[in-house]
Amino acid sequence: MKKRKIWQQSIAVMIGLISIVVSSQTMAHNLSAADSGIFYRQGAFHIIGTHFGAMGAVMKGKADYDATAFQEHAEAVSQAANLVVNNGFVTGTESGDKLETEAKADIWLEAKGFNQKATNFLEATVALAEESKKGDLEAIKPVFMSAAKTCKACHKVYREKD
Ligand code: HEC
Repeated sequence: MKKRKIWQQSIAVMIGLISIVVSSQTMAHNLSAADSGIFYRQGAFHIIGTHFGAMGAVMKGKADYDATAFQEHAEAVSQAANLVVNNGFVTGTESGDKLETEAKADIWLEAKGFNQKATNFLEATVALAEESKKGDLEAIKPVFMSAAKTCKACHKVYREKD
């Protein structure tokens, strides 16, 4: 095989990089309104899941308790919870064009029941953030468990099973 010159190799690398950048931009900009809303909702829940999972690991004794880090996780969950409850379930995001959603139609059909679960969730995440600031792991545990129950309560009714 003929060895390619350095400049030829760099052009090949550059073209590769450009196509990665272009395709990721196309992904972000070409989403329909419905897909963009679903992307937002799933992104927010992904953030919530990541931070909640990190706290869960401490609860199970699988990770060390670091009061500052724990407080930051709790704060992130509370903020993302606010974002997703207020902006993540707008009308028109019931189903996607290219993206799939696990959100059930009942969220929009039974708004009252859903809003109650969302309110319980918000209150629980605020309580968890407040308790986490005090830095007492034993006192945090029951508050964390109550918050975890609000995740399950909503998923059970309003999220499709995998
Ligand atoms: C008020 C309802 C509700 C509450 C409360 C709730 N979720 Fe969800 N969650 C959903 C719905 C609906 C979806 C599906 C979103 C979609 O696919 O569009 C979801 C999806 C997720 C996902 C998957 C995101 C992805 O990548 O697609 C994770 C992770 C998640 N939730 C974690 C949590 C955790 C952790 C909590 C509690 C701290 C929580 N959720 C509380 C309704 C809720």
